[in-house]
Amino acid sequence: MFANALVTGCAGFIGSHLCETLIAKGWRVIGIDGFLDNYPKGVKQRNIYPLLPHDNFKFIKGDLTRAPLGNIIKNVDYVFHLAGQPGVRDSWGGTFDSYVVNNILATQRLLEAVKEKDIKKFVYASSSSVYGNIGVFPATELSLPSPFSPYGVTKLAAENLCGLYYENYGVPAVSLRYFTVYGPRQRPDMAISSFVNAILKGRPIAIYGDGNQKRDFTYVDDVVTATMLAAQRPVVGEVFNVGCGQPVVLMEVIQILEELIGEKARIEFIRSQRGDVKQTCADTGKISEKLGFRPLYELDRGLGKQVEHMGKFFVRK
Ligand SMILES: NC(=O)c1ccc[n+]([C@@H]2O[C@H](COP(=O)([O-])OP(=O)(O)OC[C@H]3O[C@@H](n4cnc5c(N)ncnc54)[C@H](O)[C@@H]3O)[C@@H](O)[C@H]2O)c1
Repeated sequence: MFANALVTGCAGFIGSHLCETLIAKGWRVIGIDGFLDNYPKGVKQRNIYPLLPHDNFKFIKGDLTRAPLGNIIKNVDYVFHLAGQPGVRDSWGGTFDSYVVNNILATQRLLEAVKEKDIKKFVYASSSSVYGNIGVFPATELSLPSPFSPYGVTKLAAENLCGLYYENYGVPAVSLRYFTVYGPRQRPDMAISSFVNAILKGRPIAIYGDGNQKRDFTYVDDVVTATMLAAQRPVVGEVFNVGCGQPVVLMEVIQILEELIGEKARIEFIRSQRGDVKQTCADTGKISEKLGFRPLYELDRGLGKQVEHMGKFFVRK
């Protein structure tokens, strides 16, 4: 299938991987990104740099809350909406405004732009953060969402907007609740990136809490596969978990990284952060049954890829 896709947040961690895969499979891709300052612009420019010369890729530097979306989506069949302001810890206080703008208002504006258009699918990158500290694991799509951070609230609001534009206007929206994505180009603020960086530089790793929190880590290529399946399979108006269903304790991740890098980590435990949940774990039954999705990456293989990638950019002083 050779289709026209819009990928929002194309210069981000997951968006840049999705664009690469779509192009490799023959899709024509318009990517939009506003270079939000959640981490350095240079990192995002480097993410999309290899895509820019490609004939099937058109980059638009633009903010979804202001860009002329009607023109941009004119010939688009599939919308992959990955733009957003990620990160749990920064979503408190004054920055919340920016989470509301980039996660809720931007999504509403995009849904308004597509609501009368005959698009084939609108895939929204939601988050496991919508679950919060639910007591029962694994979390199923039927579990009652109860976000534990302002970020989670904005992701749930956007997911609900997708649901109601489907119900009211027939926008063929599907929301995917990504569980802690990792791999090459992972955002520098995320745990694994910052751990690898600290070990390589011989600096201490800051662990929030006791390190026994568990995360259902999901390799970025698997997330891209799930995202494309959601676009191509005949499902609409639904929500899916995208995870492995195998949560791992943070301290175990550090042990694997130490083995991969061949250096011992120095660990500093600091107070757990507001909004951080104790555990995430996806029930993967629905996505496996309805989309035929099976994650392919074991944690140590995926971590190996991320370490190898980060090692390439590391300059030992
Ligand atoms: N990384 C994860 O583990 C994870 C987990 C769950 C959900 N998600 C969601 O997946 C999506 C991608 O996450 P990521 O880790 O790749 O983050 P990222 O920050 O690397 O990418 C998001 C991109 O969106 C762009 N953006 C933000 N607001 C914009 C706006 N208003 N207009 C245009 N561009 C805008 C940013 O500049 C950035 O490049 C986000 O929506 C995030 O909430 C990520």
